[in-house]
Amino acid sequence: MTNSRTIRIAAAIAVTALLAGCSASAATPPATAKTYTYKDMTVGFIQTGSESGWRAANTSSFNEDAKSKGITLKFYDSQNKIENQITAFNQFIQDPQVNVIVLAAVGTTGYDDVLKQAKAAGKVVVLEDRRIEADSSLYYTYIGSDFNAEGQKGAKAMCDLLKNSTGKKVVEIGGDQAASAAIDRAKGFREKMGDCGITVTATQSAPGWDPVQGKAIMEAYLKNSKDIQGVYAHNDELAIAAIQAIEAAGLTPGKDIQVVGFDATANGFKYLISGKLGADIECNPLLAPQVYEAALKALNGDNSVPKWVPSQEGEFFAAQGAATLQSILDTRKY
Ligand code: AHR
Repeated sequence: MTNSRTIRIAAAIAVTALLAGCSASAATPPATAKTYTYKDMTVGFIQTGSESGWRAANTSSFNEDAKSKGITLKFYDSQNKIENQITAFNQFIQDPQVNVIVLAAVGTTGYDDVLKQAKAAGKVVVLEDRRIEADSSLYYTYIGSDFNAEGQKGAKAMCDLLKNSTGKKVVEIGGDQAASAAIDRAKGFREKMGDCGITVTATQSAPGWDPVQGKAIMEAYLKNSKDIQGVYAHNDELAIAAIQAIEAAGLTPGKDIQVVGFDATANGFKYLISGKLGADIECNPLLAPQVYEAALKALNGDNSVPKWVPSQEGEFFAAQGAATLQSILDTRKY
């Protein structure tokens, strides 16, 4: 082979290598942000406790959906104490594995410092179930009920239950007084009770939503006066506790005294079907799919989610009849 041909071939090889080198760099995509999937999520879930059937259904929703999505879930039971929730926040803030913190708040205040620390640590924070008093820049979104609207529904239901009653005296058994669910249900009821002349003649909160306390509260009300036409209870367990106290006093719930509760759990439905519970205002506990979807959007820098995503929920009445209520109950998950 002549020298000039060798030189031409060498040159051709050099040019090819050069072009290949350029095309290789051209073929390598520019550095892009990581796209998170559910399998990249480790969620620190700060649950209130295990105070009701609603809470059990809410916890199950988070456990089951995390499992189905391949999310790593670290669960913390706060035993209904705000101080425990602060401890859990600090624990998850310091945990390098945790990139999302979900809070079901026991109270409405006291979270500012840990929310600021979580933000500074680059953790996504999503509120589920209950609203809190905090700057909305400190969390990604709140996914939970409009408890004020629930309270207004409760008042309208009580007005209907008492429409043929001359007396309109109602006693209230509240949930834990620190909880936004209790605060807002009380407020909403009072906004609408005047529409039919209802007055709240007594009110007391059951600390930690404890039904044993709820029953004692109702027993004390009845000991003080039998001139009670309605009971407004902030969840099913408190409504059922009131029904038990009413019966123990020799009165007939659903006839002598009308009872309105919240959550629409399976237990609540049983008392609707028996006619002892007059109305049950639904509060949706199956929030995990929405919460996890929002958290994934946050991890991927999608800020299209509004600061509050209200839960979709209905209401149920003994007047619907046992057969209809049973057929509805047969389709429900909790
Ligand atoms: O925040 C929702 C409320 O919390 C439910 O109505 C009650 O059962 C639970 O304790």
